[in-house]
Amino acid sequence: RHPFPVNSQGHLEIGGVDAVNLANEYGTPLYVYDVSLIRKNARSFVEAFKKSGVEAKVAYASKAFSSIAMLQVIKQEGLCLDVVSEGELYTAIQAGFPRDRIHMHGNNKSSQELEMAIEESIGCIVLDNFYEIELLGELLKKHDKKIDVLMRVTPGIESKTHQYIITGHEDSKFGFNLKNGQAEEAFQFIQNYPAITFKGLHCHIGSQIFEPDRFLNAAEVLFEELANWKKTYNYIPEVLNLGGGFGIRYTADDVPMPYEEYVYALVEQVKEHAAALEMPMPEIWMEPGRAIVGNTGITLYTIGSMKSIPEVREYISVDGGMTDNLRPALYGAKYEAVIANKADQPPIKEVSVAGKCCESGDMLIWDLPVPEVHANDILAVFSTGAYGYSMASHYNRLAKPAVVFVENGNAKLVVRRESYKDVVQNDLSYL
Ligand code: LLP
Repeated sequence: RHPFPVNSQGHLEIGGVDAVNLANEYGTPLYVYDVSLIRKNARSFVEAFKKSGVEAKVAYASKAFSSIAMLQVIKQEGLCLDVVSEGELYTAIQAGFPRDRIHMHGNNKSSQELEMAIEESIGCIVLDNFYEIELLGELLKKHDKKIDVLMRVTPGIESKTHQYIITGHEDSKFGFNLKNGQAEEAFQFIQNYPAITFKGLHCHIGSQIFEPDRFLNAAEVLFEELANWKKTYNYIPEVLNLGGGFGIRYTADDVPMPYEEYVYALVEQVKEHAAALEMPMPEIWMEPGRAIVGNTGITLYTIGSMKSIPEVREYISVDGGMTDNLRPALYGAKYEAVIANKADQPPIKEVSVAGKCCESGDMLIWDLPVPEVHANDILAVFSTGAYGYSMASHYNRLAKPAVVFVENGNAKLVVRRESYKDVVQNDLSYL
């Protein structure tokens, strides 16, 4: 089921550390990441490209979970980094991330964000729209600098995932449309700016996608465009970035392929297309976020009040909720969980796990099989490593939880728990 063992006390273990001890020591709610799993996921992409013998870059999409410690691990593993805002870029800089390995995304990059990217000489900017081409061109002139760019295009592919996380369909706020000639127009427009070095195309078709065919179709559509550009402009791309979006297991309904297999399938596809067009093999770039951190993190909660509605449902409430994991409320996302201090006990009934926010939609899990549960038991929810902390909020003025990294039996606090002083720190008095 989940990748974490149960120790002789019947407690859940993560990274060789007893989860119940972690809850006692650091308090709850608590995000806990097994760093060795982060490394394993990162390496599975990098090694697969190495084995397939092509030039490639794997960038971790830091929106999934960004913190200084996290980016230090990504840096250590030799990956590149995808940032989508000044805040994510700032975090990368604070983590000492090599600038030339940073790529910047965003559908509305401000001039301040672009200037920071230019001043820091980051590796690549992914251009999203006409306004941005002009803005970047002017800013480069002002700073007398050059920068490498990719062009984000929407291949017109619908992917089978939640409507909020599809991005590659035609009616998308991201990127230049391929079908109506917009991308080609952008290609021509970029030629007006010699400081913009145009390296190739980017597309990201969505998130939590399982079918490899979707990625292969996207590559095919990109090559249709590239065939035109080769014929008309003799343009040969150096880079093809196929984005992220590889699905992970949240529940038994999710069956991901090993990431290596996506990589091999894509490499083969790109090789064939490049050969057909008689062009050299471009570098392949990828940007997984969730696939690198999603299954490596769990959230620990303390169970508090309970409510039974006879013949309807039993509710158990935890000390967090939509403030630390928005995904169930926003996407109807499903999770698995165990009682960490009774991880060896078989389930005897089902309960539904409620968050503590004043909102009926704040339900973390419906119908979770559990053994007998009591107040002060510790609930461990699995696969909360991606888009948990990064989408956390202060709703109901809850303070954001702490984050602990564990590896080989050692635990280290890497994000402090917020205090209520932190929560009100920017409030100013009116009277
Ligand atoms: N590259 C681009 C351009 C993206 O827009 C995204 C995600 C990624 C890479 C990384 O996708 P991943 O490999 O993590 O699926 N908050 C949502 C996910 C939003 C993803 C947005 N873009 C969720 O919790 O499911």
